Amino acid sequence: MQRNTKPCYYGEYLQLDKLLDSQYPVSQDYGNEAHDEMLFIVTHQAYELWFKQMLHELRSIYQLFANPHLPEKSLGMINARLSRIKSIQKLLIDQISVMETMTPLDFLDFRDYLVPASGFQSIQFKEIEILLGLKSEFRINFDKESFYSRLNETDRTHLLKMEDEPSLFDCVESWLERMPFFEFGDFKFWQTYRQAVDEMLDNDRKIIENNDYLSEADREFQLKDLDNTLANFDALLDEEQYAKLKEDGRFRMSQKSLLGAVFINLYRDEPMFQAPFQLLTALVDLDEHFTSWRYRHTIMVLRMLGTKIGTGGSSGHDYLRKTTENNRFFKDLFTLPTFLLPRSALPELPEALRRALNFYFHPEGE
Ligand code: HEM
Repeated sequence: MQRNTKPCYYGEYLQLDKLLDSQYPVSQDYGNEAHDEMLFIVTHQAYELWFKQMLHELRSIYQLFANPHLPEKSLGMINARLSRIKSIQKLLIDQISVMETMTPLDFLDFRDYLVPASGFQSIQFKEIEILLGLKSEFRINFDKESFYSRLNETDRTHLLKMEDEPSLFDCVESWLERMPFFEFGDFKFWQTYRQAVDEMLDNDRKIIENNDYLSEADREFQLKDLDNTLANFDALLDEEQYAKLKEDGRFRMSQKSLLGAVFINLYRDEPMFQAPFQLLTALVDLDEHFTSWRYRHTIMVLRMLGTKIGTGGSSGHDYLRKTTENNRFFKDLFTLPTFLLPRSALPELPEALRRALNFYFHPEGE
C-alpha cells in the first residue's frame, strides 16, 4: 500500500458539505416548517446510506458466486460479508424506534406535502430485493402492478433490466445443484436416506398408535399429520411430484438444489460442510431479518396512519402486512427442518466419502 501524498481532512474526505446540505424540509416552502420533518428526512437518508452498504456487500457476494467454481476461501469471505449485512439489518430494525418517537399528529403536520412520493420509490430497497431474488413473479399481486407504475422512466428501465439478470437466489441455486457427493462409488445417498426416513416414520406411527393417553380424535389428527410429513418426503425425492409442487408455488428452488441443501444440513458436522452450512444459515437469518423489518415497519405505519392509505396510494398497513407474509427470498431453506433426521438415525457415510469431506495436511513430497 502506498503512503498518502496529500494530507487528508475529515470533512473533505467524508464530503460533509454535500452530505449535511442535503436535508431540506419541504414544509418550510409552505410557510409552516414542521419540526419533525427533519427527523423524517434524516432517518430515511440514514436508511439509504445503509442500503448502499448492503448493496456493496451483496454485489461483491454475487460476483464471487458468479464464478463457475466457488472455492473454500471465497465461502469464508461470503460468510463474513453476510454477517456484516445481518448486523446492518439489526440496526435498521432498531432504527424504527427512532422514527416512532414522532407522533401521528406531528406526522400530519407535513405528510400531505409528500404526496405522491413513497417508500415504493426507494430504488436501492428494490435493488436489494431484486438482487436477492424477489422478482415480479414472486411478489403479491398489488405489488406486481403497482410499484413500477410509481417510478420514473429511468428507474423503471433500470429495475426491469435487473429483473432479467440472474439473482443471488439463482447463483445459490446453481451452486447447490453442483454439490458432488450424492453418489460416491456404489454409495447412493438418497436410497439410504429414504430407508432411514421410512424407519423413522414407521417408528413415529407405532408411537402414535400405541399411545394410550391420546383420544381417538387426537390420534387421527396426529396420524394425518404424519401422512403429510411422508408426502413431503415423497415430493422431495420424486422428480414429478416435486415439479408439480414447484408449479403450484410450494417450492421455489429446483429439486436438485434443495436436495443439496438437505445433504449439507444433515452432514454439517463434516469439516467440508461447515462453511456451506453457515452460508445457508446466514441466508435464512438475512431473510428472517428482512421479514422482521417489514413487520416493524408495518406496525409503525399502523400506529402512524391507522387505516389511512399510503402517500404512494397503497392500502397502507394492509398492503404492507401482506408483503411481510409473502415477499420472501429463500423460503425453501425454511422448509429444511421437515427433511432432517436425528443424528442417531443418519445413514453412515462410506469411509472414503468421509475422508473426502475432511481437510488433510499433506507435507510436501508425501
Ligand atoms: C412515518 C413513517 C413512515 C410511514 C408512515 C411509512 C408509510 C409507508 C407506506 C404506507 C408504504 C406503502 C406504500 C405507499 O402506499 O406509500 C410504505 C412503503 C415503504 N416504506 Fe415506509 N413509511 C415510513 C417510514 C419509512 C422509513 C423510515 C423507511 C426507510 C427507508 C421506509 C421505507 C419504505 C419502503 C422501502 C417501502 C416499500 C415497501 C414495499 O414495497 O414492500 N418507510 N411506507
